[in-house]
Amino acid sequence: MQIVLATHNKDKIREIKNLLTDLPVEIKTFEDFPEMPDVDETGATLEENAILKSNAINEYTGLAALADDTGLEVDALGGQPGVYSARYAGPGCSYEDNCNKLLEELKNVSVERRGAAFRTVIAITWSEGDVETAEGIADGIITSSKQGVSGFGYDPVFYYPPAGKTFAEMTLDEKNKVSHRGLALLKAKELIKTHLKNI
Ligand code: IMP
Repeated sequence: MQIVLATHNKDKIREIKNLLTDLPVEIKTFEDFPEMPDVDETGATLEENAILKSNAINEYTGLAALADDTGLEVDALGGQPGVYSARYAGPGCSYEDNCNKLLEELKNVSVERRGAAFRTVIAITWSEGDVETAEGIADGIITSSKQGVSGFGYDPVFYYPPAGKTFAEMTLDEKNKVSHRGLALLKAKELIKTHLKNI
């Protein structure tokens, strides 16, 4: 069986591939489909966006398609940037711009009020109209400065208390064991295994 990852984000591809290695499925990416479209994230929720992406890439490739949509929900910002996490610092912004904006917004917020959660929704479109989703959440605290160079996105400002370090200070394996995406993928793996049994 083949599953295509509905993303152009090489950081996500690295994490997802790392977690799906032990399944009897062949993982395809945009490198196998160079003209694969970038799907606009026009949904109002992470779930809507994940499904938009998995449906579009299933339709484009004819293969089962797996998409992830992730948001960082910051308590002191009433759950923002949430579904807008990618464009938080404006159109075309970099990971660093987003981290800097978040640190600036929270500069007067005490450590007790810096709680945040990463939330990932994974959607798998097996075929038109046949979609399943899985969710994963990781709770943490927004730091007051960037720490660590691994990972991507908001990882340098996301302190994960059980590990005593930020996601950007963890190895890929360490992060994947506890992260929002790792947890969502564990559930997605069960969906894939069940699907394989039923075909
Ligand atoms: P999207 O799922 O591609 O829409 O991601 C939304 C935003 O969250 C982007 O700015 C990503 O860089 C960021 N993001 C997604 N996953 C992670 C992660 O695992 N760690 C840190 N930032 C992430």
